Amino acid sequence: MLGSLFGWVSLLFEPLAFQVPLIEPQPRLKSESGIAIPVQGPWQDIITGHYAVPPVLKIHDRNSVVKWSWQREDVTQPLPPLIRSGLYSGYNDATDMKWMRGGRSVAAVYSALIVVINHTPDQPSTDKKITFAINRDNEVLHNAHTIEPLPGDRLAVGTTGQRPWDGILVYNMSEALPLVDESPVLQKIEGLRAIHALIWDEQGQMLWATGTDAAADGSDPVPAYGVIQGYPFDAETGLLSIDEAYRFRFPEYYDIDCEWGHGYSWWAGPHDLVPVPNERVLLVSNDIGLHAFDINEMNFTAEYDEVVEKYMPGFEVTTNDRHGINRQGEYVDLPQSDLKGFSLAPDGSFLYTQSLWRLFRGNYTSLVVDGVRHQIMKGNEIYRSRWFGDIDGWPKPKT
Ligand SMILES: *[C@@H]1O[C@H](CO)[C@@H](O)[C@H](O)[C@H]1NC(C)=O
Ligand SMILES: *[C@@H]1O[C@H](CO)[C@@H](O)[C@H](O)[C@H]1NC(C)=O
Ligand SMILES: *[C@@H]1O[C@H](CO)[C@@H](O)[C@H](O)[C@H]1NC(C)=O
Repeated sequence: MLGSLFGWVSLLFEPLAFQVPLIEPQPRLKSESGIAIPVQGPWQDIITGHYAVPPVLKIHDRNSVVKWSWQREDVTQPLPPLIRSGLYSGYNDATDMKWMRGGRSVAAVYSALIVVINHTPDQPSTDKKITFAINRDNEVLHNAHTIEPLPGDRLAVGTTGQRPWDGILVYNMSEALPLVDESPVLQKIEGLRAIHALIWDEQGQMLWATGTDAAADGSDPVPAYGVIQGYPFDAETGLLSIDEAYRFRFPEYYDIDCEWGHGYSWWAGPHDLVPVPNERVLLVSNDIGLHAFDINEMNFTAEYDEVVEKYMPGFEVTTNDRHGINRQGEYVDLPQSDLKGFSLAPDGSFLYTQSLWRLFRGNYTSLVVDGVRHQIMKGNEIYRSRWFGDIDGWPKPKT
């Protein structure tokens, strides 16, 4: 009751608190040759995962006005028992969410499920229906952090575990299949630990993942390095393959004692892997900061301030406590630490969520327009927000 009253009040006031300028190509992009800037892109719409019990998925605009939302109370269809129990679990997770099928579907890590749901607000009879689901309240998937559509109605899921057999599971998410308790796994790709993000590369016909080469939790006798790995997709067999030529280790490994205390067992791990619109460049965040990876050069090409200068001007640290002493006893300042999610639009605006220092999530999302940062979705506990649209140069698979 109190919650819904507050929700109401914030809906009334948030849009008035500031007015974000209308979308226009930003000056720094206007003169760049050969890059078509969509003047009227879909870049008003943002999807945000709100952690809570139950969690809520929200599609909203740049002024935080929620246009569509989804949570378990919206589900009226009959569900198989394991799917129902996953939906009604005590998990508060709304960890990842992806625009799919031309915006008619949303894939998400929600409560103790992986779900694909309809987003057809103009068709109430199909809107909000679950069309695919897996229960992840088990040893393999309980920590799953990310999903990504692949061609042929396949869905890739990162297991986000620490063991050598962790990696990616691929499922058939066809709407023609009935919901079942345990969907068969089409393919299992092992060997990348702690996967936190996946992105489909249409041009390269490849699934890119970011994780670590050893256990990120410190349970292996060696430090874990961050890794970006590409898995080529064979359209004929419908299978991903493992090719060591597309496995790229970060230049260094890092302890995270500065944030979590001296001798903390976890190593810095990658959080999000995000394409630069219209460029063959991926940006990756980890517990320490940002790196750029150039796909044509097959190499890391920028780090930290260089990344912000080049790709995310207007990025600002969100709290003033992100500093301390690392394992070597040196004082370090980590303004780019813990970027759990970020998302770049072709008009130059971008979103990011930085968790509160020594916590796992933030309490709003930052939106940067023309180099100026705004706070949106204030008061929501948030891990990620993404643009709800097809990123130019990085389209989701058509089917
Ligand atoms: C997925 O299921 C659909 C519906 O049964 C089927 O047509 C399709 O061939 C399946 N895809 C794969 C890769 O098994
Ligand atoms: C990758 O870039 C680093 C410097 O950033 C350079 O030292 C190295 O030679 C490059 N490797 C390749 C394969 O180009
Ligand atoms: C987020 O949490 C921090 C730390 O508790 C607090 O200082 C800040 O006011 C909060 N911001 C919002 C928008 O709730």
